Amino acid sequence: MELKIGLVGTGAIGRTHIDRINNSLQGARVIACSDVNINFGQEVAEKFNLAFFADAHAMISDSAIDAVIITTADPFHEEFVLASIKAGKFVFVEKPLAPEADACKRIIDAEMTSGKRLVQVGFMRRYDPGYRQLKKLIESKTYGEPLLLHCVHRNASSGDGWTTPMAVENSMIHEIDVLRWLLGEDYATAEVQFGKRTRHVDDTIQDPQILILTTKSGVRIDVESFVNCRYGYDIKCEVVCEEGTLNLAEPANAMIRTNASRVTPICADWSQRFVDAYNVEFQEWINACLAGRVDGPNSWDGYVGQVTAKAASKAREAQSVTTIEIENCPSFYQ
Ligand code: NAI
Repeated sequence: MELKIGLVGTGAIGRTHIDRINNSLQGARVIACSDVNINFGQEVAEKFNLAFFADAHAMISDSAIDAVIITTADPFHEEFVLASIKAGKFVFVEKPLAPEADACKRIIDAEMTSGKRLVQVGFMRRYDPGYRQLKKLIESKTYGEPLLLHCVHRNASSGDGWTTPMAVENSMIHEIDVLRWLLGEDYATAEVQFGKRTRHVDDTIQDPQILILTTKSGVRIDVESFVNCRYGYDIKCEVVCEEGTLNLAEPANAMIRTNASRVTPICADWSQRFVDAYNVEFQEWINACLAGRVDGPNSWDGYVGQVTAKAASKAREAQSVTTIEIENCPSFYQ
């Protein structure tokens, strides 16, 4: 059987997901799309030979569609996730599940009422081979308990429209999810400190920033976000354990000797750095849907991510340490 998918939001990442599913992966095909920008959506539909629906709700409820992918702008995720749950269809929604914790809660309520897990959130770092290796090593306990984590999330340039809160809520939300998954526990506190402001931003923006998290068992994490580092896209994670340190592997690249120097290129942006993670993420989602389930990051993970990000934003505004309050995970998501 082939999973027939309808995608809402044919922008930058939506197009790459259509391309990877229809041209690289097995077991599924995007057969329809929808976008609020009709002309643009129709162009994408024509390019990939898809049916175009001006009304996303009509596409989601169409009987030819088995599963839905949502890659619209963040504020519209909730509407289309709820519509997919109502139609009883598996739905993959790009991160964040929704920009506000209340909206995430409404999705959780609707999904629990439906009686079946249908939603997967696009936290693709869990599928990166390097992070998967780290998780195995941590869980093996060979090096003892993790005590400290030092992480880095750098982009060459933030581009237009960037704001200070986006460092946590759009960028480090990936670390918030993947580090919670690596350690297998929730966070207790958040704090945000500022570095000296780079001259490449105006004085309305704080760049770089450092997010400091502690977990319930006391692991201390620092994540540097520097979104105008100028040199490329760079992700680092070092886990300091009781009897050794674990470093996130980077994608392999040949070392070049030229002009009296040694150079090992790094990725220019996230789409290059995490291409393998996206491919594995979608192949596993397709396989699970075909087997009648979803087993990746769920609505509860999306909710916890938003609660943590909002607590960090509050901490940044107040320049103090904020406590993170998260209820017990419902058994439905365990
Ligand atoms: P984009 O702006 O390029 O594309 C968004 C598309 O959604 C546009 O074509 C827009 O017309 C359409 N749209 C907006 N509102 C709509 C509505 N109500 N109904 C139908 N279509 C609507 O944005 P981009 O970069 O593709 O991001 C899309 C989503 O993917 C965002 O939620 C973003 O956070 C997430 N994302 C996740 C990444 C990851 O690392 N996992 C990386 C990049 C984006």
